[in-house]
Amino acid sequence: MTPSAELIELLACPGCSEPLQDLACLRCRLRYPCPGGIPSLRLVSDERTNAVRRFYEEAPFPGYPPHENLASLRARARRSSFAQALDAAIPAGARVLELGCGTGQMSLFLASGGRLVVGADLSRPSLQLATQTAASLEIRSALFAETDLQRPGLKPAAFDVVYSSGVLHHTPMPRASFAAMAKLVKPGGVLVLGLYNSLARLPHRLRRVVARLTGYRWIPFDPILRDREHEPARRLAWLRDQYQHPEEHRHTLGEVKRWFRENGVQFLRTYPNTLWVEEEASGPSLFTPADDDWWIEEWLAQVRWMSTLSAEGGLFLVLGRRVTGGACRTASAGPILAHRRRADAPLGGPIGKPQS
Ligand SMILES: C[S@@+](CC[C@H](N)C(=O)[O-])C[C@H]1O[C@@H](n2cnc3c(N)ncnc32)[C@H](O)[C@@H]1O
Repeated sequence: MTPSAELIELLACPGCSEPLQDLACLRCRLRYPCPGGIPSLRLVSDERTNAVRRFYEEAPFPGYPPHENLASLRARARRSSFAQALDAAIPAGARVLELGCGTGQMSLFLASGGRLVVGADLSRPSLQLATQTAASLEIRSALFAETDLQRPGLKPAAFDVVYSSGVLHHTPMPRASFAAMAKLVKPGGVLVLGLYNSLARLPHRLRRVVARLTGYRWIPFDPILRDREHEPARRLAWLRDQYQHPEEHRHTLGEVKRWFRENGVQFLRTYPNTLWVEEEASGPSLFTPADDDWWIEEWLAQVRWMSTLSAEGGLFLVLGRRVTGGACRTASAGPILAHRRRADAPLGGPIGKPQS
């Protein structure tokens, strides 16, 4: 199955960010290979990133249950209220990038709704699984590419939505990784970032101490491990990802807001939200600013998440909109995603060689 020219055009040289012609960069005089239909746009990485790549090459995450089909993929994704909200907020035809797509579930879910999706990851075995699943489900509007998000082989300012969940906290310098991510979204487009929260992950860290002390014989209160009792490959993928990872960072909301300001991104909201009274955003309201943005509520919410987000390992989502010109206060809504913005809402040299 050949990916469409429109998808190929969203790729770029990881060395200089120039467009590619037939996967060749005329400026760097390099042609990038495409084994198995998966473009390889990865330069030499640092040792810590290589350790993460090898980790996910050994056990691609999150994997697929047996007998996956389009209905089961969509049904599973729709069990997540956030995936439902995202599906309703991103219009058909939008160009979406998933950074650190793993085995590609979210990419394929979003592509099955008529968007053009590029899924990018370091781990080739994960991308192979994603590509095979796209072929078997006959999803033609998704392309998977091997690249390091820190030097991405992706066209700058080309995407309406850039989504990355469970990834940046596994890079050696999450703040610098966020800066690289922010450049890929169009001015006016939306960034969706899923990270381990410093407070919400505390219960999981206690679980991990028990797991390590008992040589992984006893891992208390992990509902996802229990659910996957009869799916050994997916159980192992979760166990490794949550309990044995070589690189893990955690972040507060305040820290992520600083990254947003540094990169000209207007903070919109978190998911779950931090407000006592606001209902969870659904549909297009997901991409609008929250009704309020008060630091006391933010801290209380992060304490609350220690119990409510514990099952997911303390992962929270932060949404922002890239602002034209870099200032963060007076965002204008983007061309495709300008669904609804309340007027009274607060607005708030030489390159490395390709890897072998
Ligand atoms: C925990 S998995 C999350 C997969 C997927 N986002 C999900 O939520 O199911 C983290 C993924 O990030 C990828 N990753 C880690 N560092 C990366 C980097 N520097 N560039 C691209 N992908 C990276 C890993 O290969 C892995 O597939």
